[in-house]
Amino acid sequence: MIKLDSNEKLGSSQFLKRKQLWSKYRYYSLLLILFLVTGSLLLDPGSTDINNKNDVSIFSTDSTVELCPKVHPLTPKFNKSIDYILNDPLYKKQSIERLSKAVQIPTEVQDVNPDPKLNPGFYSQFITLHRFIDNTFPLIKTRLQKEVINEFGLLYTWKGTNETLKPILLMAHQDVVPVNKDSVDQWTFPPFSGHYDPNTDLLWGRGANDCKNLLIAELEAVEKLLEDGFIPERTIILSLGFDEESSGVWGASHLASFIHERYGDDSILLVVDEGAGIVEVENGLYIAPVVNSEKGYVDVTIEILGHGGHSSVPPDHTTIGVAADLITLIESSPFPSDFQLDNPLYGALTCTAEHSTSLPSDIKNIILNAGVDDKHRNQLTQYVSNNKQLRDLIRTTQSVDIISGGVKANALPESTKFLVNHRVDFHSSVRETVLEDVERARVVANRYGYGLLFEGEYLIEPTELGFIEVTYSKPLEPAPTSPSSGPVWDILAGTIQDLFNNAFIVEKANDNSNDRNNSSNSSSNNGLYVTTGVFSGNTDTKYYWSLTNHIYRFIGALFDESSLKTVHSVNENIEMKNHLSAITFVYELIVNVNESDLAY
Ligand SMILES: *[C@@H]1O[C@H](CO)[C@@H](O)[C@H](O)[C@H]1NC(C)=O
Ligand SMILES: *[C@@H]1O[C@H](CO)[C@@H](O)[C@H](O)[C@H]1NC(C)=O
Ligand SMILES: *[C@@H]1O[C@H](CO)[C@@H](O)[C@H](O)[C@H]1NC(C)=O
Ligand SMILES: *[C@@H]1O[C@H](CO)[C@@H](O)[C@H](O)[C@H]1NC(C)=O
Ligand SMILES: *[C@@H]1O[C@H](CO)[C@@H](O)[C@H](O)[C@H]1NC(C)=O
Ligand SMILES: *[C@@H]1O[C@H](CO)[C@@H](O)[C@H](O)[C@H]1NC(C)=O
Ligand SMILES: [Zn+2]
Repeated sequence: MIKLDSNEKLGSSQFLKRKQLWSKYRYYSLLLILFLVTGSLLLDPGSTDINNKNDVSIFSTDSTVELCPKVHPLTPKFNKSIDYILNDPLYKKQSIERLSKAVQIPTEVQDVNPDPKLNPGFYSQFITLHRFIDNTFPLIKTRLQKEVINEFGLLYTWKGTNETLKPILLMAHQDVVPVNKDSVDQWTFPPFSGHYDPNTDLLWGRGANDCKNLLIAELEAVEKLLEDGFIPERTIILSLGFDEESSGVWGASHLASFIHERYGDDSILLVVDEGAGIVEVENGLYIAPVVNSEKGYVDVTIEILGHGGHSSVPPDHTTIGVAADLITLIESSPFPSDFQLDNPLYGALTCTAEHSTSLPSDIKNIILNAGVDDKHRNQLTQYVSNNKQLRDLIRTTQSVDIISGGVKANALPESTKFLVNHRVDFHSSVRETVLEDVERARVVANRYGYGLLFEGEYLIEPTELGFIEVTYSKPLEPAPTSPSSGPVWDILAGTIQDLFNNAFIVEKANDNSNDRNNSSNSSSNNGLYVTTGVFSGNTDTKYYWSLTNHIYRFIGALFDESSLKTVHSVNENIEMKNHLSAITFVYELIVNVNESDLAY
């Protein structure tokens, strides 16, 4: 965490406001990218710059190797309520009420939140939410073990009958991003009204789509299973943080270490948290890009420490000028792009390329042959790096987000400092990223005759002008990539496929098959393909790596672009259909895991 002292010039309220703006953009783009990862391929297929446009011969359409086959649906035997959850009007009415009431409790968190032990009052809304959960889910209250971790984290344990089997762990977060006071009047319905409009099937309010929906869906599914008399063989854990929207430092971090202490390393079968949903990439073609990795993160702060003095006798370059040159250098040397086939994005691209009827064949060719030779892989790198929505998923990003320096018109700025936010590429590391910044600082230090300090060591001795210091904070390596094959994946993917068949989504896919009657093989292009995907942000799962290598970020609902755009913004909303589908997914997943014969 970068702290700006009070004697520095970005006033703290201004500083916070800027941070909030950034934060809003960051999360907005995080979710939007989920859609764009697949959607933008088709929305803007012409943006490629590839030279060899006529080189389409290598990809043979009658290839027997299917890169993105349709997963076999895993249909649960125990299915008492699947139909009921999806289609019963009374259940829907009750579910609307539950989600609406949860949205009405404004569990807002800021970017920086107090220690809940020292300032529990700050979190008083979470007490209200806990009371609501207790009252709304009576079977969970009486039958599950509830533990409160670090004051407001919720850990529910539904003990299985066989303690030798690894538990499954479902995550969600109780907090929501704050509503910007300046934009309250732009909301069609007040942000904490939880208003449901039967004409559009939309439920409105902050948190309706991130993440009260998943939180309540998990509780609803478990409550229903309890009601249905389901007895799990394998323990089921719900771990519900309360500050995901800042950093998870008080919530997920404590929950994860508590769970780790209890169960140990590699003790959990499967973790599922918020993430991508099902995306309709073109008419009738759906892709479920399960997010099985995350990019890394680091904030690098670079400070130019010079000397003060009167600005009537200035040096050639003030610390602001030196910082400006360094920033220019950083921005003019972006990190290289490199598409490796283990990038989770490749799954989503492959499925789109293999099954789309509207993607141009040269682009299909490049995607589908990227694994064949470096020529095509390099073309894919070039194609993706030319696409503004996708390019950041194949490289380390850099964004200069905060700057401060100078206090007065007639005084030389003694120091100027700025922060560069990096999202670290899957094939890079925090260290490699920070060292790159150090090298850039070295160039500018040499250019202006400054010293260079990094990790307590002068790489260049300080001069009479001063020195540049490079520090970093919030380091997070890229997440380990969870498997996209094997028995655990098969349960997850098969459940998603079955959900698709059960939920309303399938009707539309079937309808569309008629429109595509004349395509070369329309039947194989319709419907849902489950694969991997990725987004450029991080979730609470970053604290859970030691518990399992099977961590998936996915919500069992159709991702609808217009609702997605409202996440972290005004008029956040969710279509109730999608909420019911998310409940069904959790219900089916729990049952399918129980019905699998996994012996560990
Ligand atoms: C539930 O299982 C029964 C028996 O296998 C089957 O007939 C029914 O279609 C299933 N319902 C759902 C919604 O899967
Ligand atoms: C859960 O799995 C166990 C072991 O396979 C089985 O005995 C039990 O019937 C299952 N429970 C339900 C409700 O299907
Ligand atoms: C689809 O194509 C077949 C023959 O190619 C034709 O008989 C049929 O009417 C078509 N269906 C639709 C809905 O256009
Ligand atoms: C297939 O559909 C397209 C667009 O709807 C149409 O232009 C084309 O003539 C059709 N082809 C055949 C063989 O029916
Ligand atoms: C369509 O694809 C399926 C399987 O992928 C294949 O069995 C079938 O023969 C194909 N049909 C046509 C008309 O090409
Ligand atoms: C628990 O599951 C394991 C693996 O399937 C099995 O070998 C063992 O017999 C089970 N124990 C009980 C008490 O059911
Ligand atoms: Zn969220």
